[in-house]
Amino acid sequence: MKYLRHTLLILMLVASVTLEAKPKVRILATGGTIAGIAGSSTSSIYTAGQVGVQTLLAAVPQIQELAEVSGEQFANMASQDMTDAIWLRLAKRINHLLEEEDYDAVVVTHGTDTMEETAYFLNLTVKSDKPVILVGSMRPSNSLSADGPINLYNAVAAAISPDSRGMGVLCCMNDKLLDAKTVIKTHTIDSDTFEGGPSGIIGYVHNSRAYYLQEPLNKHTEDSEFDISDLDELPKVGIVYGYANASPLPMQAFVDAGFDGIVLAGVGDGNFHKDVFEVAVKAQQKGIQIVRSSRCPTGPTCLDGEVDDARYHFVASLDLNPQKARILLMLALTRTRDWQQIQQYFKEY
Ligand code: DGL
Repeated sequence: MKYLRHTLLILMLVASVTLEAKPKVRILATGGTIAGIAGSSTSSIYTAGQVGVQTLLAAVPQIQELAEVSGEQFANMASQDMTDAIWLRLAKRINHLLEEEDYDAVVVTHGTDTMEETAYFLNLTVKSDKPVILVGSMRPSNSLSADGPINLYNAVAAAISPDSRGMGVLCCMNDKLLDAKTVIKTHTIDSDTFEGGPSGIIGYVHNSRAYYLQEPLNKHTEDSEFDISDLDELPKVGIVYGYANASPLPMQAFVDAGFDGIVLAGVGDGNFHKDVFEVAVKAQQKGIQIVRSSRCPTGPTCLDGEVDDARYHFVASLDLNPQKARILLMLALTRTRDWQQIQQYFKEY
């Protein structure tokens, strides 16, 4: 009998070792519509950031078949209220989970309004090649045909896919995988709102697996030279919108408030109204870095188009839209005030 018991114990040990351990995935919940609650299953009137992470996980028990998934309530907010301080805390937490607690991947549930910005900030500040995937939904958690559960399942499936490693930070929405640099929310209410700009989607999730169509060309994550580990705040950078008969008051207000940088969401190829241009030139002369970007949804903001950037020491945002240009300028200003070095960062990131 004793030998039988010993034999059984050895067989169980061997079995446990040979059964491949599941990947460890941490879900950091921050709020958004995926955690939203509507007045009824058919109402579009809802409040974001109401449901806790354990409830989100309970709605998708199938993800436990994919990985050893655990949840953490990092915040529970509408993402239009996102702050630089929360970004810093989130990046530090993700770096700790991936490098100190040896998680294989992190999935961040997030509101869709600023998801593209958080993704790009993390793309420049996460110091690991392990998958970090942001996911949300366009319908509240208690909606008829809520899209959150399948989006969350797909995000975990992508997070454990070997091909996802080294792809930088991604967004996973509506079966699509989108790169942090190019992802953009294109429609206010459509569940298929996220696109990848002119370069398109980077991949997709099908039948619980990620498939990739391309790789990012820009520097990101492990290759990023931006280190936020000792930062408790970021330089102040604002965005000014361009339009016909634009007032110079908003840009002047940022100058008077002592901002470190100002991004222009300009008309066309990043052009200013002449009254705004005058304020921008004086701001640059005071050491406030001006970055020209565009309100156009697609196309680069080119160097030296109608504006002689070299003459005024302005930076052109190239392929970054205004909200992402702000993020790169903030991080660039943690390292340098040299406009030419900042322009080089816009070429690389
Ligand atoms: N308030 C918006 C947000 O938290 C809801 C949009 C959504 O999450 O789909 O981003």
